[in-house]
Parts: sequence; C-alpha cells; structure tokens
Amino acid sequence: MEDILPGEIEKWQWIEERVRIFFESQGFKEIRTPILEYTELFSRSVGESSDIVSKEMFSFQDRGERNITLRPEMTASVARSVIEKGLLSQSKSLRFYYIGPMFRAERPQAGRKRQFHQIGIEIVNESGADADFECMRLLNDFLKFAGVVKPILRVNDLGDTSSRKEMLQGLKDYFQGQISKLCKDCQWRLEKNVLRIFDCKVESCQPVIQAVDWDKLSPLSSQFKEFTERLKSHDILFEIKRRLVRGLDYYTGVVFEATAEGLGAQDALAGGGRYDGLYPELGGKETPCTGFSIGFERLLSVLSAQPIPLETKLAGETIYFAPLSSDTEAETREIQKTVMGAIRKLRSLGFHAMLGRSSSKLGDHLKNANKFGYRYVVILGSSELAKKEWQIKDMKENKQDTISFYDPAKNSKGLFTYFQERKGCELV
Ligand code: HAM
Repeated sequence: MEDILPGEIEKWQWIEERVRIFFESQGFKEIRTPILEYTELFSRSVGESSDIVSKEMFSFQDRGERNITLRPEMTASVARSVIEKGLLSQSKSLRFYYIGPMFRAERPQAGRKRQFHQIGIEIVNESGADADFECMRLLNDFLKFAGVVKPILRVNDLGDTSSRKEMLQGLKDYFQGQISKLCKDCQWRLEKNVLRIFDCKVESCQPVIQAVDWDKLSPLSSQFKEFTERLKSHDILFEIKRRLVRGLDYYTGVVFEATAEGLGAQDALAGGGRYDGLYPELGGKETPCTGFSIGFERLLSVLSAQPIPLETKLAGETIYFAPLSSDTEAETREIQKTVMGAIRKLRSLGFHAMLGRSSSKLGDHLKNANKFGYRYVVILGSSELAKKEWQIKDMKENKQDTISFYDPAKNSKGLFTYFQERKGCELV
C-alpha cells in the first residue's frame, strides 16, 4: 500500500480530470459505493473458487460478528447498489463510472499492490453486440484520450448462458482425460471451477492448457462475430485470444483485456466484459450488463513510458516565471511583486504557474526550465519592467514573444489571453 505524495499526486489529479471529462461527456454518471461490503457479496459474484475470493480478500468480523470485506473490485458493489436502491425502476438502462481504491492481498511485486485503484465503467441493462462494441470503443478511446498511443486489446467469447454449460462440460471432460498431467491445484480447480485452470502458472500444466481445442468446444457466436466486425469497421485494433477467460466468475459472452508498452510481468492494464448472470445471482432480475476496469497505477506506468511521458506533459502545462534581479533592491522587489501578481491571476484562472528563484540569472532560469521540461518561460527584468512588458520564451519552438502588461490603449492581449490561445500550454 502506498502513500501518494505531492510530486506524484498531480499525475493522479490530471488522470482523474480526464476520466470525468471523458465519461461525463458520453453520458456516464459517477457512482461511489462504500469500501466495506458483506463478504458474501464477493463470494457470490466473483466466485468462491476464484483466486481473489479464495486467497486474496482482506476479510474480518466486525463487532457485530458480521463478515466484512474490503472490496477487491467494484462491479459487484455497483450491482448490489442498483438492486438495493431499485435504480432500474427509474431508468431502463444505467451508465456509471467510478474511480476508487480496491484491496487484494496478493503477493506484492512490481505492478501489483495490495491497495490499488481502478477507473471503471458499468453499462447496466443493455444486451447485444451494440453495447459490447460501445464498451470496447470506450476503453480504446479513453486510453487514447489519456495518452496511451497504442493500446493492445485482446478479446474472447465465453458463450451465452446455454452454450456456456456445454463448453464447461466439454472442458471438464477434456481435463478429466488429462488429469494425471495436472498439478494438485488444477485437480482441485477441475472439481470446483474448470475455468480457473487457465489461471495456473505451473510449467507442467501449460502444454495441457495450450492444447484445448476451443473451436470445437466453444465456437465463436454470431453476436461475437458481429462485435468484432464493428471493431474492424471502426479501425479498432484487437486480437482474439481464446485462452482469455478472466479471473472472476461472473463473465458470460464477450470478455476482453487491454495491455500496452511499459508494463512488466503484470501486463494487464484493464479488463472487463459481459456479465449477464450476476444480478439474478445477487437477488435481482435478469439484467444484461457489460463493463471494464483500468488499473490506475498501471495506467500511470504506461503513461510514463509513452513517447511524450506524462511527466513532460504536466511540466509543459506549467508556466515558469523567471524574475531577474536588478541593481537596486527596490526594483528587484517591484519585479517580484509584479511576477507574483501575474502568477496569482493565472492560477485563479486555472493555469499552473510556478515561480523560479528570484536571485537567479536568466541563464540559470532557462537551464532550470529546460531540465524540468517547462515549455514557457515568462521573463521580467529591469528593462522589461521599464517598458511594462513580458518576454515569453517558447522553449519548444525556440521563439520569443513580447507581451505588454495589460494595456487597453495599445489593445494588448495580456498574459492570460496569450496562454489561453495556446490551450493552457498543450493539454494533449
Ligand atoms: P480485474 O481484471 O480483476 O477486473 O481488474 C482490472 C484491472 O485492475 C487489472 O487489469 C489491473 O490493471 C488492475 N489490478 C488488479 N489487481 C491489481 C493489483 N493487485 N495491483 C494493481 N493493479 C491491479 C475487475 O476488477 C472487474 N471488476 C472489471 C469489470 C468491470 N468487469 C466488468 N466490469
């Protein structure tokens, strides 16, 4: 579990802002549910035999001897809330997005935290290839909007409720025939939930798992084919991976995962899919749904590895002020006061503005700005003060502009308009 400190938190805030802009503009509403839920919610939805429920939950008994769990994911919580509050009586379908902490007691390693965060969406009570396609398009478009240049999407079809039964039986028969080649855990999984065999990392089980004849056991459905045709027609790149079964039990139909460059062994950046059977399992009516979650920390790793890393983008957005020292103390003070006034004004208008050290020389300021990747340096020294103008250096274009202090007589635009025209200095 990590503290998120200043220096790092700016990246979180930047992504959170992007999440809100993107999903709200597509008609999604935010939902926040409690971090604690009854343990039963997850055992009934994510599944008793899943790694999450069988090994990874932070569960305890509270003072009233109720079994409580720190949520390991949010899809089940959203379903619980929709059923409990009768939200579908007000609207035929619902669209939610969320950002928040989740907890899984996994063995810690790079990219795997015990408290981690997810950005997610749930499309509630919508069936068919249209909703499947929309969910996938939203994942692809959001990742690009956040700055992931090339998301890699993998999809699979787990079959609808009736074909799924046949597929599970087929898989059971197949693995039963190979039981002597399976590890102890997989033999247990075969009893409990055959799909969990695909989570196995044991070397000796891999040839048996690889040899599953998916096309015979579970041919791709016409809905899945329609879904992939739509992806193709929208130029969304994807690959079909028949072994992709997901680590949670509630999925039916289309499932998918996303990855991207910049992740190590834990390369799942996002995952999701259709889950049409979850609501009845939790005491609700038949409610076809689809959704996904993105790992926040993993998204940050990916964004740091992009051609323009997030750090550079954030630095580019900040306007660096370089007040120069003068021969007289009074003038130095006047320069500082003017600069601070401009910084305050820009900040109040939503810009990120920072003050360079007042004693430094121009060369030091420029070196500093260069080092941290700040694109714009606003310079004020004695001669600028005398002429009542700012020098603005664009470090990227290697250009310099002169902007008068706000002066209606000269029809001057002032600093704010200058930066507004530059869209807050590169907001992607
Ligand atoms: P999930 O695949 O279990 O799906 O998790 C989604 C993402 O959360 C993963 O792809 C990964 O990026 C991140 N993640 C998971 N565990 C950790 C961890 N220990 N440390 C860091 N990041 C982690 C779900 O949770 C489903 N609720 C997704 C969904 C929504 N399906 C339908 N709607």
